[in-house]
Amino acid sequence: MDTDMKRKSIVYILCCVYILILCMFRGLNEFPSPSLLESSEQSLTDSFKLRHLSRAEFNNMSFGKQSVYSVLQDACSPRKHTPVQCSRLIGDAEYVRFVRNIKIEQITDECRLENLVKDCTRFKISHGYSSVDIQEEERLFPLSFTIKMHQNPDQAEQLLRTIYRPHNFYCIYVDGKSPVEVFETMKNIGTCLDNVVVVRDRVNVVYASSAHFQAELQCMKLALQSQVKWKYYINMAAQEFPLRTTFEMVQILTAMREVNDIETYDLPVFLRWRLQKSFSIESNGLVESSDNKRPFEYDVRLSKGSAYGLFTRKFVEFILEDDIAQKFILWLNDTYAPEENMWATLVTLPWAPGSYPLEVRHTRGDFLSRAMIWYGENQKCHGKFVRGVCVFESGDLPWLIKQPNFFANKFDVNKDATVIDCLEEVLKNRTMNPKVTDLKWQYYLTRPHVTYYRRLNSSEKLVKARDFRRLKWLTYHLRDLKSDF
Ligand SMILES: *[C@@H]1O[C@H](CO)[C@@H](O)[C@H](O)[C@H]1NC(C)=O
Ligand SMILES: *[C@@H]1O[C@H](CO)[C@@H](O)[C@H](O)[C@H]1NC(C)=O
Ligand SMILES: *[C@@H]1O[C@H](CO)[C@@H](O)[C@H](O)[C@H]1NC(C)=O
Ligand SMILES: *[C@@H]1O[C@H](CO)[C@@H](O)[C@H](O)[C@H]1NC(C)=O
Repeated sequence: MDTDMKRKSIVYILCCVYILILCMFRGLNEFPSPSLLESSEQSLTDSFKLRHLSRAEFNNMSFGKQSVYSVLQDACSPRKHTPVQCSRLIGDAEYVRFVRNIKIEQITDECRLENLVKDCTRFKISHGYSSVDIQEEERLFPLSFTIKMHQNPDQAEQLLRTIYRPHNFYCIYVDGKSPVEVFETMKNIGTCLDNVVVVRDRVNVVYASSAHFQAELQCMKLALQSQVKWKYYINMAAQEFPLRTTFEMVQILTAMREVNDIETYDLPVFLRWRLQKSFSIESNGLVESSDNKRPFEYDVRLSKGSAYGLFTRKFVEFILEDDIAQKFILWLNDTYAPEENMWATLVTLPWAPGSYPLEVRHTRGDFLSRAMIWYGENQKCHGKFVRGVCVFESGDLPWLIKQPNFFANKFDVNKDATVIDCLEEVLKNRTMNPKVTDLKWQYYLTRPHVTYYRRLNSSEKLVKARDFRRLKWLTYHLRDLKSDF
């Protein structure tokens, strides 16, 4: 072969390689830039003059050896913090001890959440937001979730992607005290996902102050304004994690027939001080005033409970619209930890939708939305107690997966990431295989408030009947304030 021929063939080969590379890049470039997958899927199909592709076909489209989808999916898809075998963790105590010492795997800079969320398409594909398995029952029963957080966007996002469904509504409230990077990351997530709203108007959530429920009320309003016709409103802290798939939640909530699940019991005597004085927010926390607080104008039986629960849509409307509810909320505004008395008391009012005149207590096992271990309870906590609540670790996994509750409280990715990773895996497996789960119907249907509400006949649930109970209550409960002073 003469040198000229050689030169010609080298140029020819280089040209081919160049064109090939150009094609690959064009293929890739067509795809990631628009913020919504749907639109980029469209632009991709448009540019190839193809009809609309099904998800399966789209996943299959190949560019070279791998599909664009799988390239994006693999690159930054969340991995477990440690290479642990979750199924072994469930029964093998020896393995639990071993797992504690596995080193955490580092992720690359480009895959760090704060960087990844700047590219919505990539974020949505790699973290699974674009490819969720949804049952028809779920679509027909939308939910609204509120997540309150102050730190650890990674943990909050892990929670979000576990409960995320495109037809639901999500409100994220980031404490005003949080570092700006935490807010920025969450805000970008909100930009990427249409049905995720990150509240912009934030306040410093001073411990035990009214700021907690003010945040909640903001999310409730946004939820009602959204296009999503959700049936239940579920609030949680970012340090909680689900024990049920969203499909399981929907099945249980459907069976609850519009009763709330809010913890409520008589305000214990030793906590009355919280509502007897007026408290004000100062720069370093809540300050008690010396004056006694005027009693509420109606003689309402004060209750205590959790700030979190399962709220029916009608109950949320009641909270925001009923004038007694509104007056009560205003009255509680300057008390200590008002959110622990607010829903607990409102859910006992006889005309409140989904209400019940009974105690629902975690300590009795009736509070179906939350699993937790309090200090002094007869259940081993493998993690550590923080403010009297167990922060779970891997050793708690066997207990956790046996609990019938919706969520467990609480987790800390900095203390033990494995337990969260494994719960995520368990739920993912059940989501892909929804038939395998045996829900503990015996537990759900025998909780006192569920039984109570299921026994109410339909005429007792009518607006007319509720209005009647309201009038009756108002007549008997108007307080003669003059006699109190
Ligand atoms: C995807 O590709 C595989 C292998 O080429 C093929 O067997 C399968 O039928 C394709 N699926 C779809 C939905 O096109
Ligand atoms: C989840 O499913 C995968 C794949 O089938 C399996 O390897 C894994 O052990 C399962 N995890 C759990 C915790 O059951
Ligand atoms: C509730 O209390 C907060 C803090 O003390 C105050 O800023 C706010 O104006 C109060 N809200 C109402 C409606 O009184
Ligand atoms: C529903 O219950 C109320 C009160 O228990 C009763 O008075 C009423 O007759 C019942 N209505 C029907 C249709 O059963």
